[in-house]
Amino acid sequence: MPTVASLQNLFKIYRKPGTDIEVYALRDVSIDFEQGQYTAIMGASGSGKSTLMNIIGCLDQPTSGRYILGEDDISQLQDDALSEIRSRRIGFIFQNFNLIQQLTVLENLEVPMFYLGIPPHERHRRAVELAHRVGLEQRLDHRPMQLSGGQQQRVCIARALINEPLILLADEPTGALDSKTGVQILQLFDELVAQGRTIIMVTHDPTVAHRCQRVIHLHDGQISRDELNARHPVAAEDGQLTG
Ligand SMILES: Nc1ncnc2c1ncn2[C@@H]1O[C@H](COP(=O)(O)OP(=O)(O)O)[C@@H](O)[C@H]1O
Ligand SMILES: [Mg+2]
Repeated sequence: MPTVASLQNLFKIYRKPGTDIEVYALRDVSIDFEQGQYTAIMGASGSGKSTLMNIIGCLDQPTSGRYILGEDDISQLQDDALSEIRSRRIGFIFQNFNLIQQLTVLENLEVPMFYLGIPPHERHRRAVELAHRVGLEQRLDHRPMQLSGGQQQRVCIARALINEPLILLADEPTGALDSKTGVQILQLFDELVAQGRTIIMVTHDPTVAHRCQRVIHLHDGQISRDELNARHPVAAEDGQLTG
């Protein structure tokens, strides 16, 4: 499978405000993500997971190193070019849903399409289709408050698919859900992966990570382990990672 995202020798160095103290949030991180790959990122608090996800998601840039997303080298882009790429090529799924409370399910899906310049009729058609895809076709006129946590997360997943993203990024997507609902969301992820979606997910839960094809462990800003799940049907075809 082709590479959709290539991180090459990334460093992210923060400076503590008002001091000369530098924090190496990422040190020499190199990862190639293949199209259609389902990856879990694990690591203790402070190990650099969010920093890595923010860079992959074009919310932030590395201090040094290269990041190629699709065919674009985005390591040197200015903020406006970065946010343009982000809105076109990345889908985000957050732990706390980030839905607009005043809007219905349908409207929550239509608003981002407005910003992507999609015409009104098309917006409506695609919002209905996406709601269908995540099993919310009966809930189009509900507001987030009237939905369960699992249903709200489904809206988020539908919303993240609007721009047909190259990569879906999920930061602890089941963290706010009970385990039964969490499994339903993970089943939806399995379906998306089966349809060819590329998903990168942060999780602290080994049983959640175990459902992924690849598990990358961060430790103090460095990759400490990068392994394919041999028992995973897709990963098993590819064999073990070397090196
Ligand atoms: N904006 C920032 N300014 C300074 N230090 C930061 C900033 N963001 C993160 N860090 C530091 O970078 C390291 C990695 O943080 P983070 O990526 O949030 O880790 P994780 O998501 O794994 O908990 C930590 O030491 C954290 O304190
Ligand atoms: Mg974090």
